[in-house]
Amino acid sequence: MTRVALAFSGGLDTTVCVPLLEEEYGYDDVIGVTVDVGQPASEFAEAEATAEALGLEHYVVDARAEFAALCLDAVRANATYQGYPLGTALARPVIAEAILEVAEEHGCTGVAHGCTGKGNDQLRFEAVWRDSDLDVIAPVRELGLTREWEQEYAAERGLPVEAGNEGDWSIDSNLWSRSVEGDDLEDPSFVPSEAIYEWTDEPTGETEFVEITFEEGYPVAVDGEAYDPVDLIEHLNEVAGAYGVGRTDVMEDRMLGLKVRENYEHPAATTLLDAHEALEGLVLTQEERQFKQQIDSQWAQKAYEGLIDAPLVGALEGFIAETQQRVTGTVTIKFEGGKARPVARESEYAAYSASHASFDTESVGKIEQADATGVAKYHGFQRRLANESIAAAGTGEAVELATDGGPDGTQDGE
Ligand code: ARG
Repeated sequence: MTRVALAFSGGLDTTVCVPLLEEEYGYDDVIGVTVDVGQPASEFAEAEATAEALGLEHYVVDARAEFAALCLDAVRANATYQGYPLGTALARPVIAEAILEVAEEHGCTGVAHGCTGKGNDQLRFEAVWRDSDLDVIAPVRELGLTREWEQEYAAERGLPVEAGNEGDWSIDSNLWSRSVEGDDLEDPSFVPSEAIYEWTDEPTGETEFVEITFEEGYPVAVDGEAYDPVDLIEHLNEVAGAYGVGRTDVMEDRMLGLKVRENYEHPAATTLLDAHEALEGLVLTQEERQFKQQIDSQWAQKAYEGLIDAPLVGALEGFIAETQQRVTGTVTIKFEGGKARPVARESEYAAYSASHASFDTESVGKIEQADATGVAKYHGFQRRLANESIAAAGTGEAVELATDGGPDGTQDGE
């Protein structure tokens, strides 16, 4: 007996995959696996109901804690891709691993997904699955299915696919972000209606403050109350979502090179990312902040690709962990006009001295205002020489090099 485990959501794509895996791929048995990464309850109800109607053996795996922990790693890496906080991308390896485990437990020889050949998710799932010996099957891509064909096929077979109340958009939600794409949104010049949003209300003039506490770069409390990662994210999605925080409308460059118009909602992610970066601004040195931008953008790139277990990511996290030891403190966020604006930050590790920076003090310790004079003389010196040369060359006059040494006329070079 041959058996295949299918990543199952109860949507159109994965529903038509069930009979196709038997008819076109010759499997005796299909099992459906839905992995909980914080989708709304209605999605599980849909998956359950569809599985039952199909007579599909169905398993649900709770991976919320693991997924939430990964989302908070993404906060330490300030991770976004073209403005998108990577919810779908971060979830895929977690989902793929969970399905692989169920497949192995149940003696499956194959694993299947319902992704098309155009998106990123096929690559993310398969990167994980192809580490195993199981056969990897992608019916929608391999059979070249279109949505229209799937609808007809489902109607002919009497498959349980109700249109749902979400229109013809393709939606993917989890704890970290909700994405809406397709249908009228495919036209980049089309202005989306409020109807595409489910987590965020249209921003009003109202405002609210929240205080986020971080320990070593991880958010651990809101307004002084400790939360575990799943609850913390859910709580902030509620609170910040009410102020319209975390809406993104982007032209996204996918891994295959296609551009796609994507709309996202991510109130908690935006709040935590903005707060975290504000705290880093207080405690990290300028050179750490500059270098960390490169580390962070590499981390986000690998996350986008679904390759969070690449050795590079481990190496990047070595740097991140070292810097995050001091990212402990609190940040006050003001929800205002659809933004999560950091308005106050505090840390015992602040790399900041009010008395040194203040306009009200003449000298502190061994530093006084006059000490900046020498720096001011040197600042921009090299470009002054270059610009003088350029100007002289332009007039055809001989270029007169400054042979008198430094800016203050000394001869002793550096
Ligand atoms: N473009 C995003 C990504 O690759 C999200 C895609 C989500 N899928 C969807 N059916 N809306 O991570």
